[in-house]
Order: sequence, then C-alpha cells, then structure tokens
Amino acid sequence: NWSMQNFIDMEVEKIRELVGDKKVLLGLSGGVDSSVVGVLLNKAIGDQLTCIFVDHGLLRKDEGDQVMDSLEGKFGLNVIRVDAKDRFLNKLEGVSDPEQKRKIIGNEFIYVFNDEAAKLDGIDYLAQGTLYTDVIESGTATAQTIKSHHNVGGLPDDMAFQLIEPLNTLFKDEVRELGLELDMPESLVWRQPFPGPGLGIRVIGEITEDKLEIVRESDAILREEIKKAGLDRDIWQYFTVLPGFKSVGVMGDARTYDYTIGIRAITSIDGMTADFARIPWDILQKISVRIVNEVNHVNRIVYDITSKPPSTVEWE
Ligand code: XMP
Repeated sequence: NWSMQNFIDMEVEKIRELVGDKKVLLGLSGGVDSSVVGVLLNKAIGDQLTCIFVDHGLLRKDEGDQVMDSLEGKFGLNVIRVDAKDRFLNKLEGVSDPEQKRKIIGNEFIYVFNDEAAKLDGIDYLAQGTLYTDVIESGTATAQTIKSHHNVGGLPDDMAFQLIEPLNTLFKDEVRELGLELDMPESLVWRQPFPGPGLGIRVIGEITEDKLEIVRESDAILREEIKKAGLDRDIWQYFTVLPGFKSVGVMGDARTYDYTIGIRAITSIDGMTADFARIPWDILQKISVRIVNEVNHVNRIVYDITSKPPSTVEWE
C-alpha cells in the first residue's frame, strides 16, 4: 500500500539510519528536486544538514537572490551562498563540446562542495536531488548515454563524500506530489525545471559572458510574457537558446549582422518525452518583437518545433 506519506516515513527512517550522528551537505539549486530533498533531510536529521547554493554564473536573471529569498531560513534550512562564477567560467573557457562542458560543470560543483565541506569540518555525506530520469538518461541504467546529467555523469573519482539521493527512484511529477505532501508552497513545487549546467548548455558551443548576457536577457523576456499570458503552468519548460551563428537583418535603413535566438517551449509529463508547445502566434510575435527590440545583438527569432524524440529538451 504505497503512498507519498509512506514514502516520506520510509525515507526519513532510512536517512536517519544511514547518517547516524554524521553531517550532510546538500547542493541546493532552488529547484523543486533539491528543495524537496532539503525539506526531507531536515525532517530526518535537522541541524546535521547544511545547504550550499552555488552561483556558477550560469543562472537566470535575478535567480540567485530569488533562491536565497525563498529558501534561506525557510523550512528550517540553513543555506550558504557561494559565488563561484569565476572558477566555473575560467574552467569553461575555450570549451565547445557539449559533453565536455557538462563534465566540467558537474566536476566543478563537486570541487566547490569539497571546499565548503572542508570549512565546515566533519561532512561525510553529499545529498543531491537526482531523479530517476537523470539516472536513466546518463546511461547508468541503460547501455547508452544520451547526455550526462550533471549530477550523475559528472562525478569525479576523487570525491570525498558518500552520496545520498533520496529521489533517484522518482519522476518529476512524483517529486511535485511529494513537495505538496511536505507542505511546500506551490510557487516552489511548480517551478519549471532548470538543468544543473544552467545557461551553460543554452549557449551552444563556447561560453562567453556576452553570450550568457544575451541568453539571460532574452530568457527573462520570454518568461515574463509566458507568465503574463497565463501559460506558465501548462508549459512544462520554456527558455531561449543562443545557437551562436549570425545572420543578416535590417533595422531602420541599416543592415544588421547579428545573432539568432531560438525559443524552446515544451509540454511533458516527466521530461522523458516531450512535444513542442502550441503557443498562440500573437504571443510568440510579442515575445519576438520584445527580444529583438530589447536585447542587443539579436536580429532574428526562431521557434523550435521538434518533439522529444527525436530532439532532446535542451539543445546540448
Ligand atoms: P533533455 O535535454 O535530456 O532534458 O531532454 C530532459 C529534462 O532534464 C533536464 N536536464 C537536466 N537536469 N541536470 C539536471 O538536473 C542536467 O544536467 C540536465 N540536463 C537536462 C532538462 O532541462 C529537461 O527538463
């Protein structure tokens, strides 16, 4: 007789038994998965948990402050914010291969956790919000890797912790159910998924600060308009991508030669398969006009009309 409440009781019991009087570090991203792990761990071990929120410089507009506002001191959580932008961007300099970018970002997360754990003293466990989907697609459960989800494929061998991943048998919709069962607010439970490597896999190829800025600003406009249109619940995920090529346009009387922005918006149940969202044309037009007018160095917008499969949700 399986229910979410049973799951909570069993996991709390399991975590207590495993951890004993040791300490746990949780990589908190502000998303639903790691937040649910935080609340679950807090229920199980209280103050033996410390949360680390890593700002890797690949976050969305204003995301760092919003995450701290919604989680620090809430649900009994103690959250330390680490500004790690420079170390991530330095390691990523000149790297354009998607899998290599994913591995670098995944490893750097662990190195940051290592450094923070050393300051805290006596941390034996690292908790993560890894889902069953991440496990499957990273090739641990099947023969083939589709892409290395940062929290699974990218773990370095010299990691100093044992892992706790209480959600690695669950799909996203079940995690949301669990979050509601744990009395977490809907604004947190219904946040759209955001991948660990963040905007780093939405700037195609080599990452630069200028390109991050373009993707960040265009994404903020897209999110604002989708919310205004009341579509944010129906669309599983919506974001912009910078493919990195330039094309010719005309503004006023002048020729432009600037970047294209891709809009990706999908409906899905679990992220394993997806369909492109049928956003009304007039809303897409409004988004297109705003991005070209408000974001420098963009003169063309395209809408991604592929489903998964054959595409994936993220472009890298
Ligand atoms: P893909 O691109 O693999 O995405 O079709 C499926 C879902 O997973 C998210 N995603 C990630 N989530 N770490 C995460 O935590 C990752 O490395 C990662 N890569 C993709 C993606 O945003 C979508 O919701």
